[in-house]
Amino acid sequence: MTTAYIEQIGRYAGEEVTVQGWLRSRRDSGKLHFLTLRDGTGDLQAVVSKAAVGDEQFALSARLTQESSLKVRGKVRAEKRAPGGYELEVIAIELVQLAEPFPIQPKEHGTGFLMEHRHLWLRSHRQHAILRIRHEIIRACRNFFDDRGFVLLDAPIFTPNACEGTTTLFQTQYFDETAYLTQSGQLYSEATAAAFGKVYCFGPTFRAEKSKTRRHLMEFWMVEPEVAWAELADVMDLAEEFICAIVERVLENRRADLQALERDIAKLERIRPPFPRMTYHEAVAVLRKKGNPIQPGDDFGGDEETLLSNEADRPLIVHRYPSALKAFYMQSDPAHSDLALCMDVLAPEGYGEIIGGGQRIHEYDKLLNRIKEHHLPEEAFRWYLDLRRFGSVPHAGFGMGIERAVAWICGLEHVRETIPFPRMLYKLYP
Ligand code: 4AD
Ligand code: MG
Repeated sequence: MTTAYIEQIGRYAGEEVTVQGWLRSRRDSGKLHFLTLRDGTGDLQAVVSKAAVGDEQFALSARLTQESSLKVRGKVRAEKRAPGGYELEVIAIELVQLAEPFPIQPKEHGTGFLMEHRHLWLRSHRQHAILRIRHEIIRACRNFFDDRGFVLLDAPIFTPNACEGTTTLFQTQYFDETAYLTQSGQLYSEATAAAFGKVYCFGPTFRAEKSKTRRHLMEFWMVEPEVAWAELADVMDLAEEFICAIVERVLENRRADLQALERDIAKLERIRPPFPRMTYHEAVAVLRKKGNPIQPGDDFGGDEETLLSNEADRPLIVHRYPSALKAFYMQSDPAHSDLALCMDVLAPEGYGEIIGGGQRIHEYDKLLNRIKEHHLPEEAFRWYLDLRRFGSVPHAGFGMGIERAVAWICGLEHVRETIPFPRMLYKLYP
């Protein structure tokens, strides 16, 4: 007997197959039961008729609870009125486990309740659409860099040093040493870029951000390209091309999921090069004109990013922030030594920063001074300084947070739904 996935059920029209899945919902009408089965690849209506299956099986079908696991044998029939265009005329049901009353009902639940039941919430249509789009975005990221000759070289998770500031480090014991969970693979990618030219890393990163916002996770995934011989302008172009490629892939392959989320697809179709670009100081002027009280030298918070990213119908690249606001490794602008050769890409519709990056200091003495100015432990950065001693070249790169990209592309209010099991402030369960 053939076992079929619902996604491919149309191939078996007229044939007998077994579908293995879970009961999403049921509707009864006299001598017929309409079961909606889900198997992870799709939903299928299975029709149980008392006349066809007999009294015993019909009674079993009547007892089935939401999320019970089943193997259902039946004949596949084209049926225009059924969702998906096919239905299953049931011949026999094998109950694998009769589910206890399922906590998530087809009604409104509060976010706290749903997050507490995240392991079960993942079965919903909405979470399916979001997480399939996440998968597509990750695939698009990898394909983009693979197709352009970048080598994937992953960075370690346990590290002896900070990359993005010492205030958001998660500390852990590493035998008799202290280790930190990585905040970014960048420093290691700089080493691999000096070995392979064009590289990227793609892994989980960790930040103990004591901020409860719709954009922050404690654990998030970041894709980080790093290019030897590249300057700021090169990675601004690369980021633009990268974002366009990702959006295009999602539009191509996951349109139905975007529709299920009621995403305004026209807005995504407008994501084409060139992206508008402005300097930090130009951005400050724009904000002040809009009545924002920001002073030159202040960092942008969520509100400022939202204001700026509402400006255009495509992502906005803000470059040359004051060095004082940025990480220790940022190269300074030869024209304005207090500005960094860095960029942030702000997603439109108020989403704000999805990419951060720029050009790195490649001179030994300058980097050593920065490490000292930032009171970073020189010993832990010895290997990083070595990169400036043995064939140092200008180089640049960036990092894109996957969850921020997913939130924007799916049009979500909060990053908590963009990853199967979000780690949030003081929330570790499930
Ligand atoms: O701007 P960030 O801190 O840059 C870096 O880590 C660089 N070392 C990357 C590089 O140049 N290779 O972080 C990069 C991106 C942000 O733009 C954002 O998308 C995401 O990582 N991000 C977060 N996403 C979710 N939750 C958080 N707490 C995040 N912090 C950063
Ligand atoms: Mg940043």
